[in-house]
Amino acid sequence: MKINVLTKKLTSVKTELLVIGCFEKEKFNQQELDKKLKGEITKAFKQKKFEGEFKQFYSISTLKSIAPEKILLVGLGKKKDFSLEKLRKINGLISKIVCDSKIKRFATTLSDINVKEKLEDKVQTITEGTILGNYQFTKYKTEDKDKINELKELIILSNNKAIAMKGVKKGKILAEAVNYVRDLVNLPPSDATPSYLANQAKSIAKKEKIKIKVFGKKELEKKKMNAILGVSRGSSQEPKLIILETNPNAKKKIAIVGKGITFDSGGLDLKPSSYMLDMKSDMAGAATVLGTILVVAKLKLSVNVVGIMAASENMPGQSAQKPGDIVTAYNKKTIEIINTDAEGRLVLADAVAFAEEQKPEAIIDLATLTGACVVALGYSAAALISNDDKLKKSIKNAAEKTAERVWELPLWDDFREAIKGEISDVRNLGKGKGYEGGAITAATFIESFVKKVPWAHLDMAGTAWFIEDKEYSPKGGTGYGVRLLVELLENWK
Ligand code: BES
Ligand code: MG
Ligand code: ZN
Repeated sequence: MKINVLTKKLTSVKTELLVIGCFEKEKFNQQELDKKLKGEITKAFKQKKFEGEFKQFYSISTLKSIAPEKILLVGLGKKKDFSLEKLRKINGLISKIVCDSKIKRFATTLSDINVKEKLEDKVQTITEGTILGNYQFTKYKTEDKDKINELKELIILSNNKAIAMKGVKKGKILAEAVNYVRDLVNLPPSDATPSYLANQAKSIAKKEKIKIKVFGKKELEKKKMNAILGVSRGSSQEPKLIILETNPNAKKKIAIVGKGITFDSGGLDLKPSSYMLDMKSDMAGAATVLGTILVVAKLKLSVNVVGIMAASENMPGQSAQKPGDIVTAYNKKTIEIINTDAEGRLVLADAVAFAEEQKPEAIIDLATLTGACVVALGYSAAALISNDDKLKKSIKNAAEKTAERVWELPLWDDFREAIKGEISDVRNLGKGKGYEGGAITAATFIESFVKKVPWAHLDMAGTAWFIEDKEYSPKGGTGYGVRLLVELLENWK
């Protein structure tokens, strides 16, 4: 989508549709426009057809009285409740409404709303909301292609073009990376295999001049990364540990590690079919790592980010790992496999141990790790579990800023007790019934593979995949985490 900034007067922009925002119970301040429209706007307010309530929409045809053909009044709610997230949501909705009306180009004045937020931030948010809300996964559609409308251009009206363009540029890079992650997550699992992810990473690395290494089965065997190898044993697809690195000479080094299970059947502890259906999304953590690395490169952030994607299928083939098996992980700890469906923590065990060897200041892992996380927090927040208060605080701040919620869960000794092994060092499922405090036991298991570096874990099982449309996230892959991580890395101290 093209996004341009114009300094024109709103009445003279040639466009099919012009968006104008109104706060609830605030005086409408476009008197000149209202006059040109013969009082249609004040009439709408008087007749209570439009009152500026959040998410209220009202369209008026201009009958050629001004250059725009239609005006779309958009309710922004009460001014005191305004936030950039609300602006993002509204623009996601506008994007959908406009797209459904088969309009290809439209203009907006929302960058001009009178709030305390900076112009650059408002424009960035409008850009994000519009591009994210317009996302459609159409790659596999061959019929009725003409029925698919796509927005081609957004015109943002602002009298400070230079500053507004900065917001456009950043918003575009971020939103397009989020949509890229959504594409990866939405791809059918037999297409988005570990090798496919490796090839995607390679092509991004080449284009953005990022260092990359890919360990296939042979290298993983040589390095004795048996936890990830164990998970992949039931599959015909080779596992891949993909390591990307931006700015190797920068002072600050941070590792981000993503769970990349390209399909989680559960392994021999096979999932029931209704739980298995969406398990192509089990690589969302790894996709988010790749999307984040892409943005770090494009925005030229001066941080040394090591991005690690732990990619494998979890299948019940004839060589599959069995409940009761014991594997020796990369760091030499032995793990008893109690349940083959608790595979994410296994691939991450090797990946975080490898990450720590790279001597980063911190490790952040992202994973669609547990159904228990979805039970606890629904689709509204990722679970945040960490061994370091400062890191926790920075992640919470970043999440607040990008409105990608995190909610802290505790790391307590009780849980460390629950994963102690009887005949091995650790077990991949808590004692007891196995699912009590499931999101925490899973995180505690990963923690046991971290020696001493500050580490944080984001369980995004509920936030990476939506089962229904939200304002700027259509159902399917959400691309959760990219904006949050970029915000975090950008402000790393
Ligand atoms: N990939 C799943 C977790 C998941 C569930 C992600 C729902 C997204 C939505 C994970 O590998 C898994 O299977 N976890 C098990 C763990 C159990 C065996 C302790 C679960 O949560 O049921
Ligand atoms: Mg599983
Ligand atoms: Zn899984």
